[in-house]
Amino acid sequence: MSRWALWTFLVAPVVAMPHFDINLDLPPRQRWLEVTKYYRQEILTMMDTWEAMLQATLQPAEKADWLRYGTDNSEEYQEELLGIYEGLGTNLSFSLDTLNLFNILYEMGSPTLTQACSGLLAADVNGKVIHGRNMDYQFLFKMPDETIKDWPDVTFEAYFWKGGRRIFMGIQWPIYIGVHTAMRFNGWSFEQNTRLGMNDPQLNLESAKGGGKPYGFLVRKLMETTPDFETALSKINATSFLAPQYFILAGAKPFEGAVISMDRFSAQNLSATPPVRRFSDSAGPWFLLQTNDDANKFPLDHRRPMTATILAMHGQQDVSINFVWDWRRNRRWNLWQLWK
Ligand SMILES: *[C@@H]1O[C@H](CO)[C@@H](O)[C@H](O)[C@H]1NC(C)=O
Ligand SMILES: *[C@@H]1O[C@H](CO)[C@@H](O)[C@H](O)[C@H]1NC(C)=O
Ligand SMILES: *[C@@H]1O[C@H](CO)[C@@H](O)[C@H](O)[C@H]1NC(C)=O
Repeated sequence: MSRWALWTFLVAPVVAMPHFDINLDLPPRQRWLEVTKYYRQEILTMMDTWEAMLQATLQPAEKADWLRYGTDNSEEYQEELLGIYEGLGTNLSFSLDTLNLFNILYEMGSPTLTQACSGLLAADVNGKVIHGRNMDYQFLFKMPDETIKDWPDVTFEAYFWKGGRRIFMGIQWPIYIGVHTAMRFNGWSFEQNTRLGMNDPQLNLESAKGGGKPYGFLVRKLMETTPDFETALSKINATSFLAPQYFILAGAKPFEGAVISMDRFSAQNLSATPPVRRFSDSAGPWFLLQTNDDANKFPLDHRRPMTATILAMHGQQDVSINFVWDWRRNRRWNLWQLWK
């Protein structure tokens, strides 16, 4: 999709990540104020960049349709965004709609250019599953002082609190109030990946009109409410999403790990789509790798065969946090250990 020419990909150095607490017991309008204040200048610049992209690529009627059918319409979601918008100050050059549409940037077809991200689940000899993910996906914006920034400059860890307890942690970008990368403590972890060649925005919009949902805020609500891997897996697999994509989940119990190849409308709606891949027990596979193409088809790029070859030189006894980390040492990785 050449219309999204601003989106390209490269490897950037890891930067230290700030931490924020998001208190879900606060009224939604107040939850993101600290983040909004911290990243205010970055947000203003990102939203100007995003607004320019929207104006260059979307017809007004199409934009209205995305806002009406494609975004989450819950009061909580709208109130959180309004709180951020108000927190930015007055006399802004973009509207609340700009923030709203930023939350469905995947569904609007933006990251379809090339490789986007990958996930690796590896089970050690006891079945302990380590979930590694990278995010090599770019959104460049030029700050008023002419410096060029990108996702790593605005990536932070958010701890979501409810009833005085930390419920889950998300790797976040400002304005994006859903989750693309998150872990519920003692529960399950989640990662969303681009499904290349299938993420057509027009078809996604049609699906939205038929009731298909964007994933980000929906999965965040599951993180808030669903304690365990099996329930999360079956709920996500049974949801009607408006865009094709991959979901990678791991759990805190032995051999809990799965990859869902999600079709538009419903899981495995297309006959050629791989079924849910998962660990079974010690007799099954010890790693599950997901790049941006279907595991049952010829690879679209070198990452899957190359990584599988390297992993095949190892055995399950090698699996550790460091092993998963080293696998893509020079990439941007978020790495989790659910099982303490
Ligand atoms: C509002 O913004 C415009 C440019 O975006 C600027 O020219 C104007 O002075 C601003 N007004 C106030 C009251 O800040
Ligand atoms: C599968 O997708 C078609 C559209 O391609 C849709 O009409 C149908 O309802 C979907 N099936 C299910 C079970 O969601
Ligand atoms: C996922 O959903 C499909 C139907 O859309 C179903 O056939 C399959 O059994 C489900 N898999 C799991 C693991 O829930």
